[in-house]
Amino acid sequence: MTALHYTCPLCNLPLVAQDKLYRCENNHSFDRAKENYLNLLPVQFKHSKNPGDNKAMVNARRAFLEQGYYQPLVDRLVALYHEKVTPDANKTDIVLDAGCGEGFYTHQHKSAENTVYGVDIAKEAIKKAGKKYQQCNFSVATLSKLPFSDKLFSWIVSVYAPILEQEFTRVLSNGGFLLTVTPAKQHLMQLKQHIYNDAKEHDEEKLPIEHLALVHQENISYPMQLKTGQDTLNLLSMTPFAFKASDEVKNTLLNKPDFTCQADFLIRLYQKAP
Ligand SMILES: C[S@@+](CC[C@H](N)C(=O)[O-])C[C@H]1O[C@@H](n2cnc3c(N)ncnc32)[C@H](O)[C@@H]1O
Ligand SMILES: [Zn+2]
Repeated sequence: MTALHYTCPLCNLPLVAQDKLYRCENNHSFDRAKENYLNLLPVQFKHSKNPGDNKAMVNARRAFLEQGYYQPLVDRLVALYHEKVTPDANKTDIVLDAGCGEGFYTHQHKSAENTVYGVDIAKEAIKKAGKKYQQCNFSVATLSKLPFSDKLFSWIVSVYAPILEQEFTRVLSNGGFLLTVTPAKQHLMQLKQHIYNDAKEHDEEKLPIEHLALVHQENISYPMQLKTGQDTLNLLSMTPFAFKASDEVKNTLLNKPDFTCQADFLIRLYQKAP
Protein backbone atom coordinates (compact mmCIF):
# COMPACT_ATOMS: atom_id res chain seq x y z
CA MET A 1 0.00 0.00 0.00
CA THR A 2 1.46 3.39 -0.93
CA ALA A 3 -0.55 5.91 1.00
CA LEU A 4 0.95 9.20 0.02
CA HIS A 5 -2.08 11.38 0.34
CA TYR A 6 -3.40 10.96 3.88
CA THR A 7 -3.53 13.89 6.28
CA CYS A 8 -3.62 13.71 10.06
CA PRO A 9 -7.21 13.74 11.33
CA LEU A 10 -6.06 15.71 14.41
CA CYS A 11 -3.99 18.52 12.90
CA ASN A 12 -4.41 18.16 9.10
CA LEU A 13 -0.66 17.93 8.38
CA PRO A 14 0.45 15.25 5.89
CA LEU A 15 1.00 11.76 7.26
CA VAL A 16 4.34 10.22 6.35
CA ALA A 17 4.66 6.44 6.27
CA GLN A 18 7.51 4.74 8.13
CA ASP A 19 6.96 1.06 7.62
CA LYS A 20 3.64 0.33 9.39
CA LEU A 21 3.45 3.65 11.20
CA TYR A 22 1.97 6.82 9.74
CA ARG A 23 3.09 9.98 11.51
CA CYS A 24 2.59 13.73 11.13
CA GLU A 25 5.12 16.43 12.11
CA ASN A 26 3.25 16.93 15.37
CA ASN A 27 3.98 13.30 16.21
CA HIS A 28 0.41 12.05 16.00
CA SER A 29 0.76 8.48 14.78
CA PHE A 30 -1.50 5.81 13.31
CA ASP A 31 -0.76 2.12 12.77
CA ARG A 32 -1.48 0.24 9.61
CA ALA A 33 -3.53 -2.78 10.66
CA LYS A 34 -2.57 -6.26 9.51
CA GLU A 35 -5.69 -6.30 7.33
CA ASN A 36 -4.15 -3.49 5.25
CA TYR A 37 -6.06 -0.42 6.40
CA LEU A 38 -5.49 2.70 8.48
CA ASN A 39 -7.65 3.70 11.39
CA LEU A 40 -7.90 7.49 11.11
CA LEU A 41 -10.91 7.88 13.37
CA PRO A 42 -9.75 9.24 16.73
CA VAL A 43 -12.00 8.25 19.64
CA GLN A 44 -13.12 11.84 20.11
CA PHE A 45 -14.67 11.75 16.60
CA LYS A 46 -16.82 8.75 17.45
CA HIS A 47 -20.37 9.25 18.58
CA SER A 48 -20.71 5.58 19.53
CA LYS A 49 -18.36 2.67 20.26
CA ASN A 50 -18.77 1.06 16.85
CA PRO A 51 -20.18 3.66 14.47
CA GLY A 52 -21.57 2.71 11.05
CA ASP A 53 -22.79 -0.67 9.89
CA ASN A 54 -22.30 -3.64 12.22
CA LYS A 55 -20.70 -7.00 11.43
CA ALA A 56 -23.97 -8.76 10.55
CA MET A 57 -24.95 -5.99 8.10
CA VAL A 58 -21.49 -5.97 6.58
CA ASN A 59 -21.47 -9.77 6.09
CA ALA A 60 -24.96 -9.77 4.58
CA ARG A 61 -24.05 -7.00 2.13
CA ARG A 62 -20.88 -8.70 0.98
CA ALA A 63 -22.74 -12.01 0.50
CA PHE A 64 -25.47 -10.26 -1.53
CA LEU A 65 -23.16 -8.12 -3.69
CA GLU A 66 -20.92 -11.08 -4.50
CA GLN A 67 -23.88 -12.80 -6.15
CA GLY A 68 -23.68 -10.13 -8.88
CA TYR A 69 -27.18 -8.67 -8.49
CA TYR A 70 -25.84 -5.09 -8.61
CA GLN A 71 -23.20 -5.71 -11.29
CA PRO A 72 -25.11 -3.75 -13.98
CA LEU A 73 -24.91 -0.74 -11.67
CA VAL A 74 -21.20 -0.98 -10.96
CA ASP A 75 -20.39 -1.62 -14.64
CA ARG A 76 -22.15 1.62 -15.52
CA LEU A 77 -20.40 3.57 -12.76
CA VAL A 78 -16.99 2.40 -13.91
CA ALA A 79 -17.86 3.12 -17.56
CA LEU A 80 -18.90 6.69 -16.66
CA TYR A 81 -15.65 7.15 -14.76
CA HIS A 82 -13.54 6.06 -17.74
CA GLU A 83 -15.66 8.14 -20.09
CA LYS A 84 -15.28 11.38 -18.11
CA VAL A 85 -11.79 11.13 -16.65
CA THR A 86 -9.15 10.61 -19.28
CA PRO A 87 -5.74 9.39 -18.08
CA ASP A 88 -3.09 12.10 -18.00
CA ALA A 89 0.49 10.87 -18.45
CA ASN A 90 1.78 13.66 -16.16
CA LYS A 91 -0.58 13.15 -13.26
CA THR A 92 -1.97 10.11 -11.41
CA ASP A 93 -5.70 10.12 -11.28
CA ILE A 94 -7.00 9.76 -7.70
CA VAL A 95 -10.40 8.27 -6.87
CA LEU A 96 -12.36 8.22 -3.60
CA ASP A 97 -15.20 5.85 -2.72
CA ALA A 98 -16.91 7.79 0.08
CA GLY A 99 -18.77 5.41 2.44
CA CYS A 100 -17.27 2.42 0.63
CA GLY A 101 -18.51 -0.42 2.87
CA GLU A 102 -16.63 -3.64 2.06
CA GLY A 103 -15.03 -2.18 -1.07
CA PHE A 104 -17.23 -3.87 -3.68
CA TYR A 105 -17.51 -0.71 -5.80
CA THR A 106 -14.11 0.67 -4.76
CA HIS A 107 -11.93 -2.07 -6.21
CA GLN A 108 -13.79 -2.12 -9.52
CA HIS A 109 -12.59 1.47 -10.12
CA LYS A 110 -8.93 0.44 -9.82
CA SER A 111 -6.87 0.53 -13.00
CA ALA A 112 -3.16 0.38 -13.77
CA GLU A 113 -3.04 4.19 -14.01
CA ASN A 114 -4.97 5.41 -10.96
CA THR A 115 -4.82 5.39 -7.16
CA VAL A 116 -8.03 4.44 -5.36
CA TYR A 117 -9.08 5.23 -1.79
CA GLY A 118 -12.05 3.91 0.15
CA VAL A 119 -13.28 5.51 3.39
CA ASP A 120 -15.93 4.27 5.78
CA ILE A 121 -16.72 4.86 9.44
CA ALA A 122 -17.49 1.15 10.01
CA LYS A 123 -14.34 -0.69 11.08
CA GLU A 124 -15.83 -4.12 10.30
CA ALA A 125 -16.48 -3.07 6.70
CA ILE A 126 -13.01 -1.55 6.21
CA LYS A 127 -11.32 -4.61 7.70
CA LYS A 128 -13.02 -6.79 5.09
CA ALA A 129 -12.23 -4.33 2.30
CA GLY A 130 -8.54 -4.00 3.18
CA LYS A 131 -8.05 -7.73 3.48
CA LYS A 132 -9.65 -8.59 0.16
CA TYR A 133 -8.64 -5.68 -2.09
CA GLN A 134 -4.94 -5.11 -1.47
CA GLN A 135 -4.56 -2.87 -4.52
CA CYS A 136 -6.74 -0.11 -2.99
CA ASN A 137 -6.12 2.11 0.07
CA PHE A 138 -8.73 1.84 2.81
CA SER A 139 -9.20 3.85 5.99
CA VAL A 140 -11.66 4.07 8.83
CA ALA A 141 -12.60 7.75 8.90
CA THR A 142 -15.59 10.03 8.94
CA LEU A 143 -16.95 11.61 5.79
CA SER A 144 -17.55 14.81 7.72
CA LYS A 145 -13.77 15.30 8.16
CA LEU A 146 -11.95 13.41 5.43
CA PRO A 147 -8.23 12.70 6.06
CA PHE A 148 -7.11 14.19 2.76
CA SER A 149 -5.79 17.53 1.58
CA ASP A 150 -7.83 19.95 -0.54
CA LYS A 151 -8.39 19.37 -4.29
CA LEU A 152 -6.98 15.82 -4.33
CA PHE A 153 -9.60 13.74 -6.13
CA SER A 154 -10.68 13.84 -9.74
CA TRP A 155 -13.54 11.40 -9.02
CA ILE A 156 -15.62 10.76 -5.90
CA VAL A 157 -18.21 8.00 -5.94
CA SER A 158 -20.93 7.75 -3.28
CA VAL A 159 -23.23 4.71 -3.36
CA TYR A 160 -26.09 4.74 -0.88
CA ALA A 161 -23.95 6.60 1.63
CA PRO A 162 -24.19 10.00 3.33
CA ILE A 163 -23.43 12.91 0.97
CA LEU A 164 -21.53 15.78 2.60
CA GLU A 165 -21.37 18.46 -0.03
CA GLN A 166 -19.00 20.89 1.66
CA GLU A 167 -16.38 18.29 2.57
CA PHE A 168 -16.62 16.47 -0.77
CA THR A 169 -16.21 19.80 -2.58
CA ARG A 170 -13.13 20.62 -0.52
CA VAL A 171 -11.30 17.42 -1.54
CA LEU A 172 -12.41 17.52 -5.20
CA SER A 173 -9.93 18.93 -7.71
CA ASN A 174 -11.10 21.82 -9.88
CA GLY A 175 -13.09 20.21 -12.68
CA GLY A 176 -13.39 16.99 -10.63
CA PHE A 177 -16.58 14.91 -10.52
CA LEU A 178 -18.88 13.64 -7.79
CA LEU A 179 -21.07 10.68 -8.75
CA THR A 180 -23.94 9.81 -6.42
CA VAL A 181 -26.17 6.72 -6.47
CA THR A 182 -29.46 6.99 -4.60
CA PRO A 183 -32.65 4.90 -4.76
CA ALA A 184 -35.00 5.71 -7.65
CA LYS A 185 -38.81 5.47 -7.44
CA GLN A 186 -39.33 1.73 -7.77
CA HIS A 187 -36.23 0.53 -5.93
CA LEU A 188 -37.00 -2.74 -4.08
CA MET A 189 -40.73 -2.06 -4.28
CA GLN A 190 -41.72 -5.76 -4.08
CA LEU A 191 -39.62 -6.19 -0.96
CA LYS A 192 -41.16 -3.10 0.63
CA GLN A 193 -44.63 -4.44 -0.12
CA HIS A 194 -43.90 -7.35 2.21
CA ILE A 195 -43.10 -4.92 5.01
CA TYR A 196 -45.53 -2.01 4.56
CA ASN A 197 -49.25 -2.06 3.78
CA ASP A 198 -48.90 1.12 1.74
CA ALA A 199 -45.35 0.88 0.36
CA LYS A 200 -44.41 4.27 -1.09
CA GLU A 201 -42.15 5.13 -4.01
CA HIS A 202 -38.82 6.80 -3.24
CA ASP A 203 -38.73 10.56 -3.61
CA GLU A 204 -36.33 11.26 -6.50
CA GLU A 205 -36.80 14.99 -6.52
CA LYS A 206 -34.58 15.93 -3.62
CA LEU A 207 -31.19 17.05 -4.94
CA PRO A 208 -28.64 16.51 -2.17
CA ILE A 209 -26.14 18.84 -3.83
CA GLU A 210 -26.70 22.57 -4.14
CA HIS A 211 -23.49 24.16 -5.36
CA LEU A 212 -21.83 21.72 -7.77
CA ALA A 213 -23.14 21.61 -11.35
CA LEU A 214 -25.35 18.64 -12.25
CA VAL A 215 -23.86 17.49 -15.58
CA HIS A 216 -25.59 14.14 -16.11
CA GLN A 217 -28.43 12.09 -14.69
CA GLU A 218 -29.76 8.63 -15.54
CA ASN A 219 -31.73 5.72 -14.14
CA ILE A 220 -30.67 2.09 -14.14
CA SER A 221 -33.63 -0.16 -13.72
CA TYR A 222 -34.02 -3.93 -14.04
CA PRO A 223 -35.80 -6.84 -12.33
CA MET A 224 -33.62 -9.03 -10.14
CA GLN A 225 -34.50 -12.70 -9.85
CA LEU A 226 -33.32 -13.63 -6.40
CA LYS A 227 -31.94 -17.15 -6.46
CA THR A 228 -32.41 -18.10 -2.83
CA GLY A 229 -34.40 -16.99 0.19
CA GLN A 230 -31.08 -16.21 1.90
CA ASP A 231 -30.22 -13.76 -0.90
CA THR A 232 -33.56 -12.02 -0.25
CA LEU A 233 -32.86 -11.78 3.48
CA ASN A 234 -29.36 -10.44 2.79
CA LEU A 235 -30.88 -7.80 0.54
CA LEU A 236 -33.45 -6.94 3.20
CA SER A 237 -30.73 -6.42 5.78
CA MET A 238 -29.09 -3.83 3.49
CA THR A 239 -32.20 -1.65 3.59
CA PRO A 240 -33.24 1.02 6.08
CA PHE A 241 -36.55 -0.81 6.59
CA ALA A 242 -34.99 -4.14 7.68
CA PHE A 243 -35.76 -3.44 11.35
CA LYS A 244 -39.47 -3.21 10.51
CA ALA A 245 -39.63 -6.81 9.24
CA SER A 246 -41.24 -9.25 11.68
CA ASP A 247 -39.90 -12.79 12.12
CA GLU A 248 -42.97 -13.99 10.23
CA VAL A 249 -42.17 -11.82 7.20
CA LYS A 250 -38.54 -12.93 7.28
CA ASN A 251 -39.61 -16.54 7.37
CA THR A 252 -41.95 -16.04 4.42
CA LEU A 253 -39.16 -14.42 2.41
CA LEU A 254 -36.66 -17.11 3.37
CA ASN A 255 -38.98 -19.80 2.04
CA LYS A 256 -40.04 -17.98 -1.11
CA PRO A 257 -38.38 -19.39 -4.22
CA ASP A 258 -37.97 -17.19 -7.32
CA PHE A 259 -38.65 -13.86 -5.71
CA THR A 260 -38.42 -11.06 -8.27
CA CYS A 261 -37.62 -7.58 -7.10
CA GLN A 262 -36.98 -4.36 -9.00
CA ALA A 263 -33.60 -2.64 -8.80
CA ASP A 264 -34.03 1.05 -9.62
CA PHE A 265 -31.04 3.33 -9.18
CA LEU A 266 -30.67 7.03 -9.76
CA ILE A 267 -27.22 8.12 -10.88
CA ARG A 268 -26.31 11.79 -10.70
CA LEU A 269 -23.01 13.24 -11.82
CA TYR A 270 -21.85 16.63 -10.56
CA GLN A 271 -18.81 18.65 -11.50
CA LYS A 272 -16.81 21.22 -9.58
CA ALA A 273 -16.01 24.35 -11.60
CA PRO A 274 -12.75 23.89 -13.57
C1 LIG B 1 -25.80 1.64 2.78
S1 LIG B 1 -24.08 1.51 3.13
C2 LIG B 1 -23.37 1.57 1.51
C3 LIG B 1 -21.99 0.96 1.44
C4 LIG B 1 -21.39 0.84 0.03
N1 LIG B 1 -21.26 2.13 -0.62
C5 LIG B 1 -22.26 -0.07 -0.80
O1 LIG B 1 -23.14 0.42 -1.50
O2 LIG B 1 -22.05 -1.29 -0.73
C6 LIG B 1 -23.68 3.10 3.83
C7 LIG B 1 -22.24 3.16 4.35
O3 LIG B 1 -21.97 4.48 4.83
C8 LIG B 1 -21.17 4.36 6.00
N2 LIG B 1 -21.29 5.62 6.75
C9 LIG B 1 -22.39 6.13 7.35
N3 LIG B 1 -22.11 7.32 7.95
C10 LIG B 1 -20.79 7.57 7.69
C11 LIG B 1 -19.89 8.64 8.03
N4 LIG B 1 -20.29 9.69 8.73
N5 LIG B 1 -18.61 8.56 7.61
C12 LIG B 1 -18.19 7.50 6.89
N6 LIG B 1 -18.99 6.47 6.53
C13 LIG B 1 -20.26 6.49 6.92
C14 LIG B 1 -21.74 3.13 6.70
O4 LIG B 1 -20.84 2.59 7.65
C15 LIG B 1 -22.01 2.21 5.52
O5 LIG B 1 -20.89 1.38 5.22
ZN1 LIG C 1 -1.22 15.50 13.52
